[in-house]
Amino acid sequence: MRYGHFDDERREYVITRPDTPLPWINYLGSEAYFGIISNTAGGYSFYRDARLRRLTRYRYNNVPFDLGGRYIYLRDAVSGDFWSPSWQPTQSELEDYECRHGMGYSAISSRRNGIEAETLYFVPLAENLEIWRTRVTNKRDDEAKLSLFSAVEFCLWDAWDDQTNFQRNFSTGQVEVEGSVIYHKTEYRERRDHFAYFACSEPLAGFDTQRDTFLGAYKGWDRPAAVERGESFDSVANGWAPCGSHHVELTLAPGESKEIIFVLGYWENADEAKFDPPGSQTVNKKLVAPVIERYLRSDEVESAYQRLRDYWSELLGILQVSTPDEHTNRMVNIWNAYQCMVTFNMSRSASFYESGIGRGMGFRDSNQDLLGFVHMVPERARERILDIAATQLPSGGAYHQYQPLTKRGNNDVGSGFNDDPAWLILGVAAYVKETGDTSILDEEVTYDNEPGSESPLYEHLQRSLRYTQHRLGPHELPLIGRADWNDCLNLNCFSTTPGESFQTTENKEGGVAESVFIGGLFVLAAEELARIAELRGHSDEAESYRADGAKMDGVVREHGWDGEWFRRAYDYFGEVIGSAQNEEGSIFIEPQGMCILAGIGLDDGKAKKALDSVASKLACEHGIVLQQPAFSHYYVNLGEISSYPPGYKENAGIFCHTNPWIMIAESIIGRGDAAFDYYQRINPSSREDISELHRCEPYVYPQMIAGKDAPSFGEAKNSWLSGTAAWNFVAASQWILGIRAEYDGLRIDPCLPKEWEQFEATRKFRGATYRISVSKPSGVCKGVAQVVVNGKKIDGNLIAPHPAGAEVVVEVTMG
Ligand code: GLC
Ligand code: GLC
Repeated sequence: MRYGHFDDERREYVITRPDTPLPWINYLGSEAYFGIISNTAGGYSFYRDARLRRLTRYRYNNVPFDLGGRYIYLRDAVSGDFWSPSWQPTQSELEDYECRHGMGYSAISSRRNGIEAETLYFVPLAENLEIWRTRVTNKRDDEAKLSLFSAVEFCLWDAWDDQTNFQRNFSTGQVEVEGSVIYHKTEYRERRDHFAYFACSEPLAGFDTQRDTFLGAYKGWDRPAAVERGESFDSVANGWAPCGSHHVELTLAPGESKEIIFVLGYWENADEAKFDPPGSQTVNKKLVAPVIERYLRSDEVESAYQRLRDYWSELLGILQVSTPDEHTNRMVNIWNAYQCMVTFNMSRSASFYESGIGRGMGFRDSNQDLLGFVHMVPERARERILDIAATQLPSGGAYHQYQPLTKRGNNDVGSGFNDDPAWLILGVAAYVKETGDTSILDEEVTYDNEPGSESPLYEHLQRSLRYTQHRLGPHELPLIGRADWNDCLNLNCFSTTPGESFQTTENKEGGVAESVFIGGLFVLAAEELARIAELRGHSDEAESYRADGAKMDGVVREHGWDGEWFRRAYDYFGEVIGSAQNEEGSIFIEPQGMCILAGIGLDDGKAKKALDSVASKLACEHGIVLQQPAFSHYYVNLGEISSYPPGYKENAGIFCHTNPWIMIAESIIGRGDAAFDYYQRINPSSREDISELHRCEPYVYPQMIAGKDAPSFGEAKNSWLSGTAAWNFVAASQWILGIRAEYDGLRIDPCLPKEWEQFEATRKFRGATYRISVSKPSGVCKGVAQVVVNGKKIDGNLIAPHPAGAEVVVEVTMG
């Protein structure tokens, strides 16, 4: 069953009923000011950091799930009937409800009793504000007298403190109201130099800023007292809970439309310019005034909206494909790329499943996210790489996370996740391949943000590799430390205390737990570093990295191979994990993917065998589960992985992040049907028809789909912020469609389903535009017979970079 449909032309998902199985959300903002918005206008906004600069309040895990947001109420002055055009919070019956989630904007519209209302929400580029543009149209035969009320609930900035420190916070709230603008200035009187404002384009009939006056005691957002009676209270908040509500009166002739614009924004004043007049306690509004005035104007709003649309057209225009499969097209062209940009902006901070008060930016996560957006925003990827590298520890190790606002390593989550450093090599490799910019390798970057500790980025990469080499266990495999990619495989932890964090409790001394996964990752990273060394003219170093990689490859084949698949690890005591010898957890997905990506077992049949084992033991109709058999009880020597009930999360859930590794591996060995089949199993668009089961948004990947051991097999959770976005994008665009940036050019090496006969693509690469058409006889999956570039046949399938501005016609014939 569907709850809407794709509008690919407009790059929108159109939700046609408000009661989706879960809130289906979108993101507003692309630089510093961001918001989450659901299909019923729920959600919240923040400036840069979802925890420390939260503008509007949100209660997570609320009932109903999606309550609190950017609300508008309409009230008919004659009948007294009032409703929310976005359905929430009044849940009144609506006609023609529609929510269009687009690239950086959402528009929600509906009709009730002949009154149409549509609100467009977006954040203009380069501004720290959001716009709500509401159009109300009278479709009745008679004049309509209406009241319109806006409503937001302000957060007292620090979202964690806001939800916990009530003894103080109920006494600090302050606002000012001037003309049609409400200023929220809690703590501005002391150490903050920022405030929020909520402006309206129309003269006001009234306003409210004290939440409990606006709502009334014992009432909720579904029937605020002011709306019910049709008149604001003009309340000025002192302590308690400041909110913002404007009241606008409208009289509309039959057929008449009226546009009302609201602007919600964030502003910082310099310390000496905080107050006006100086010495007073009144917010200085002089500097913000022109910004507010500008965006209350209809023409400015329209052109800002057009600029936002153009911005997205340009970003998405870097890769556009036309294949025989609509799900592939819309994910690659629109939604998967968009999700990659959202993970760039949000990392794992703010979604309906990440509360915005918890996780910072992951070291490994951020490096992987980069794989999905480096082609769209290479300059910003460069900056991100340098930020991440600056937190690296002198040992080559890494803080597991860093804070976006301070860009410093975050000790709360600690370090010693022994896969972390290697991901930096892969992130940098992706950047250099995309841009050809090797100057990044010479950038002087600190360790642990310590001034004076700088070394060229290249040395950071060298230390990353050495970090693994200096931490090998009894089988010469890399020690796992706290965990590797799988945060929940905690082999040194032995936690028996409820509530203790598996990631930060003191590890038991003297363990020798090793990771086959990191072994594979090391082989992959060593080859990338060898290529990078060559680019710098150090062929001797390249040779030694290759030798290191080859040695680890040998170790993995010897101690990491189980006979039918790659093993997962050795535990604290040196006992094997992910082996036929294990009754539960005898095969894991991660090493099958990573070892084959690294090229291990391609020459001796191990890769193919491992993938056959994945197909027979891990693949199921909704995707590939993380391991089998699921852990039926808690194993103290395995840690968090066995804390989840079978079928969920790392305990045999379909952890979508890992599935593309298998798609890529299948592509590498040339099995195009298998790769594409796995791609479709978790592709959200191809799951749209089972939305009532899948439950999450059909336009973005979730982190997890419940595995076959779970009672809710097939149900998705944790949408949006997941490494799944980047890796699926890589699998589809670089391996299935085979359009891959490499150090020396653009490689075209598709691995397609047998029945496809062609596809086309446009790829911008280092400033030139490649118009690629691929044709193939049906029955073939892989292999390029001929590549013709601008009419000339080239050797092989790697196209050397063309000058910026060039238009390059590429005809590829497979066979
Ligand atoms: C989450 C984490 C990621 C980790 C994965 C598996 O997605 O953000 O870092 O690799 O879980 O545990
Ligand atoms: C990862 C895992 C999650 C675990 C968390 C711990 O995100 O996906 O299951 O609880 O790491 O920080």
